Amino acid sequence: PQKALAPTPPMGWNSWNRFNTEIDDKTVREIADALVSSGLRDAGYVYVNIDDGWQGMRDADGVLMPNAKFPDMKALADYVHSRGLKIGIYSSQGPKTCGGYEGSYGHVEQDARTFANWGMDYLKYDLCSGEAFYYTKEAVYASYQQMGEALAATGRDIVFSLCQYGRFDVGSWGRDVGGHLWRTTGDIEDNYARMAWIGFDANGKPNHTGPNGWNDPDMLEVGNGGMTTDEYKTHMSLWALMAAPLLLGNDVRSMTPETAAILSNRDVIAIDQDIAGVQGLPVKKDATHEIWTKKLSDGATAVGLFNHSDRPITLSGEWAQIGLGGASEVRDLWTHTNTRSDKAYSYTLPAHGVVMLKVR
Ligand code: GLA
Repeated sequence: PQKALAPTPPMGWNSWNRFNTEIDDKTVREIADALVSSGLRDAGYVYVNIDDGWQGMRDADGVLMPNAKFPDMKALADYVHSRGLKIGIYSSQGPKTCGGYEGSYGHVEQDARTFANWGMDYLKYDLCSGEAFYYTKEAVYASYQQMGEALAATGRDIVFSLCQYGRFDVGSWGRDVGGHLWRTTGDIEDNYARMAWIGFDANGKPNHTGPNGWNDPDMLEVGNGGMTTDEYKTHMSLWALMAAPLLLGNDVRSMTPETAAILSNRDVIAIDQDIAGVQGLPVKKDATHEIWTKKLSDGATAVGLFNHSDRPITLSGEWAQIGLGGASEVRDLWTHTNTRSDKAYSYTLPAHGVVMLKVR
């Protein structure tokens, strides 16, 4: 059974997208400090998640040890906690992780206890090298269930992130194995085409998402340099409309002002974190643009107008055409301005850009 540890989509930072396996104790501490000093922690990003590359060997009793880059995991967890943050870690159910490090195969209960003893608050559990053992839904289910039960048995509150790429309709059973989020596709990349495919076309079914169990279209690439500022705003807006987990994937120690502004936009974060936990949907989809809406708990509607084309376009219409008859108060969540508009709208969007609104 699932613990209520993620009433809204988890928010935090993860080492993978920016650092790959080049991650160490010092960097994690500096990231924790930067989350605090940048205000991102206070904007909601509280998990500091170490991804693949931390693992060393097992000791004579089979206890998994960190490698030389992480001299003392318990001390690191204590430090992260002392900054008012939470800490997470990564493993895989196979003998090896995707990065070729030691996986939890044959040591599931033991590893869960190790993570809990260190003070971990979050586990991302992958499906790498386990695939040969786990061809069927039943086998994949059983192996996630085993770790879910092992985490529960530790008595510690640990968010359980299933990283198995949407296979076997994971959204329909992720909660049953104790999962709080589950990946819906293969890995994101820091380019518009891949981000847009995942976000616009490939995320999981809306009826699977909601408080304590979230479709996970993968971590943010905002600030990693492969997209324009407008494309990163699209990425952030789309993830918020989908109620996606918001795991920062950049180096928060050295952000441009544009990156910091995108990631700490509280109007947009509030859409993501809305307590109703509704996954937004496209109401209009064509080759040049899409319009998405998401019902909010206060009765208003979040709207995303997205431009797929590589030159500016103007979108005009009547609110009623997108299910919002009688709209009048409109807040632009990127410019933070309020207008009244009783019948019609017209917005010009930059290439691959977005206008995101809260409409009442
Ligand atoms: C898989 C996951 C990534 C990352 C790597 C680590 O590819 O999908 O998010 O965790 O493994 O090796």
